[in-house]
Amino acid sequence: KKRIVSGVQPTGSIHLGNYLGAIKNWISLQNSYEALFFIVDLHAITLPYDAQLLSKATKNTAAIYLACGIDTSKASIFVQSHVRAHVELMWLLSSATPIGWLNRMIQFKEKSRKAGDENVGVALLTYPVLMASDILLYQSDFVPVGEDQKQHMELTRELAERINNLYGGRKWKKMGGFDCLCYSGDRRGGAIFKVPEPLIPQAGARVMSLTDGLSKMSKSAPSDQSRINLLDPKDVIANKIKRCKTDSFSGLEFDNPDRPECNNLLSIFQLITGRTKEEVARECQDMNWGTFKTLLADALIDHLHPIQVRYEEIISDPAYLDGVLLEGATKATCIADATLNSVYQAMGFVQR
Ligand code: TYM
Repeated sequence: KKRIVSGVQPTGSIHLGNYLGAIKNWISLQNSYEALFFIVDLHAITLPYDAQLLSKATKNTAAIYLACGIDTSKASIFVQSHVRAHVELMWLLSSATPIGWLNRMIQFKEKSRKAGDENVGVALLTYPVLMASDILLYQSDFVPVGEDQKQHMELTRELAERINNLYGGRKWKKMGGFDCLCYSGDRRGGAIFKVPEPLIPQAGARVMSLTDGLSKMSKSAPSDQSRINLLDPKDVIANKIKRCKTDSFSGLEFDNPDRPECNNLLSIFQLITGRTKEEVARECQDMNWGTFKTLLADALIDHLHPIQVRYEEIISDPAYLDGVLLEGATKATCIADATLNSVYQAMGFVQR
């Protein structure tokens, strides 16, 4: 079976963008792929954070994975920091990562501009190397993510190729009783790492803010009105949709560049109801905003309600959740350690 990996940061609340761009797709993919889903707690400390809240947020995120339908008989769920190899491989990878590649990352530029120089730690810059490590450790074939991770995925691929080229053809050989590193002459392309591909959905890859159709829905936007959180109560969802930004055109349509909010809300409706774009376009073409907003709010409430019920069950059973995370970390450690050992070997370290 081909393998997929992906993860979400335990910062802020998980919102509709995370769900439609990533988690919802994981649920269908777990049926066809060997799947590993982690909660990237090590990434969550790259900006100032509250240490008192980290472990709770990490467990809550794991509970959301389960509540959304990740099935532990098909997929593993684990906490990134529980598998030490992530940080270890990151160091090895960072030795071959040009700083220029990292300086070019859009998310780094945006986040560091917002945070201000005093708050920007080195880890914010090296964040994509840790993400590459998360992916390459598992020799992943595909990585289901939203569009905002595209650039990080490109860096991951380039890094995999670079390491493969630098160290790929070398093998340990016994020579006169000593272990030494020499070219085996066999320079297979993917010798050390498989070069993974992103899986970015056609619809849902970029869910936009409810208050501005030109910026993406995000955990860090100051106004909670701008996003639907998966755990928002019914009345909050209804209120956010009622107050969300619209326009004064008549009828509703997809893909009109002058109507980003309209396109976004129709896309959310399409994904949450499981209909095709054509069906939604036809159904809503003559609708006014009032009618559509009621439909959309009801659809969201109906879709999220069962997830919220399951979430409450899971979060009230900490022993179950701990068991899931332990099992996940045990399986992940096995795969990760094997890769890590082969990288140490290929890079010329003395074998333990
Ligand atoms: P994070 O926590 O910011 O987001 C988690 C996932 O949600 C997607 N996403 C969106 N999709 C559509 N519309 C939006 N408005 C939206 N906002 C977020 C993201 O694309 C992502 O798939 N660096 C990653 C976490 C990570 C990771 C990894 C992912 C670390 N290591 C290895 C995959 C593989 C991040 O910060 O995601």
